[in-house]
Amino acid sequence: MKLKIAVLAGDGIGPEIMEQGVAVLSAVAEKFGHEVSYKEALCGAHAIDEVGDPFPEETYQACKEADAVLFASVGDPKFDNDPTAKVRPEQGLLAMRKRLGLYANIRPVETFDCLIHKSPLKDELVRGADFICIRELTGGMYFGEKKEGTDEAWDTNYYSRPEVERILRVAYQYARQRRRHVTVVDKANVLASSRLWRKVAQEVMLEYPDVETDFMYVDNAAMRMIQDPRFFDVMVTENTFGDILTDEGSCITGSMGLLPSASTGSSTPVFEPIHGSWPQGKGLNIANPLAQILSVAMLFEYFNLQDEGRLIREAVSASLAANVRTPEIQVEGAPRYGTREVGQWIVDYIRKA
Ligand code: IPM
Ligand code: MN
Repeated sequence: MKLKIAVLAGDGIGPEIMEQGVAVLSAVAEKFGHEVSYKEALCGAHAIDEVGDPFPEETYQACKEADAVLFASVGDPKFDNDPTAKVRPEQGLLAMRKRLGLYANIRPVETFDCLIHKSPLKDELVRGADFICIRELTGGMYFGEKKEGTDEAWDTNYYSRPEVERILRVAYQYARQRRRHVTVVDKANVLASSRLWRKVAQEVMLEYPDVETDFMYVDNAAMRMIQDPRFFDVMVTENTFGDILTDEGSCITGSMGLLPSASTGSSTPVFEPIHGSWPQGKGLNIANPLAQILSVAMLFEYFNLQDEGRLIREAVSASLAANVRTPEIQVEGAPRYGTREVGQWIVDYIRKA
């Protein structure tokens, strides 16, 4: 297969983890005889500094023309601490999502048995937890009408029926590949937008009688996720709730550096870690490249290249089992490995496989 990949490394640890993601992508492509070409493009703080726009037109074109986008992370503390900044790196990410029509963000929360002890939750609660959050990504407060005045400000949590319907269908399709259980997370006891979600879900669920549907308020879901994470199979929710719940989900696994995601919709799909740009870790060769590498696995799987995805997952599990791990998940007394060493180990594993 021929694959054109747009590479958006972004800020902070982005370029370091991206280097490993691309190395793994190339190693797998070589092994399976795929022809991959890459086009790097600017985004985030980096792009603001160079061209004054966090998602320049040229980057949009590179994404449009590609078969897939591999994205790392954006963000920079100089913007975080300046609420008056006119343009922010995160706007680049949001512009990319909107302009590429990426309405469905798929965030799997899977645990690795050998890392269970790293979870802040009790082993017996976490072992075997395996669910995905389907986060609506182009609507809600992120994109609704806003006002930012000196003394008042608001964000509108707007959703239309078609927006809700299409994301629910994505959730049901995933559920059919899994344990056939969808949990619709909302705040229908308070929010009008959530009541629309619930109404639409109560209709759509009738088309999927083979899938069990339940409804949960977001506050309750936040609690249930740490009390009984194995309850969930496919969780579907609006943009803001999904943002918050997936950070919570990442804790279950023991490190944010482990979770990949895919964003799909009407144009080129994007594959990216769920973590941010971790500026404190920049340039230190300590960032975990596994979320980026697992995002590459999701990329192959999107194109139905299951063996390719499986090999990456196998290599990642093998690296963890061999204690080839970045510092935040390393066992005491084991040798130290950095971003590059972990990536290289996985590339070697793939080549030898
Ligand atoms: C995420 C991030 C983004 C979001 C930020 C960087 C805009 O937190 O992908 O979860 O809020 O969606
Ligand atoms: Mn987030």
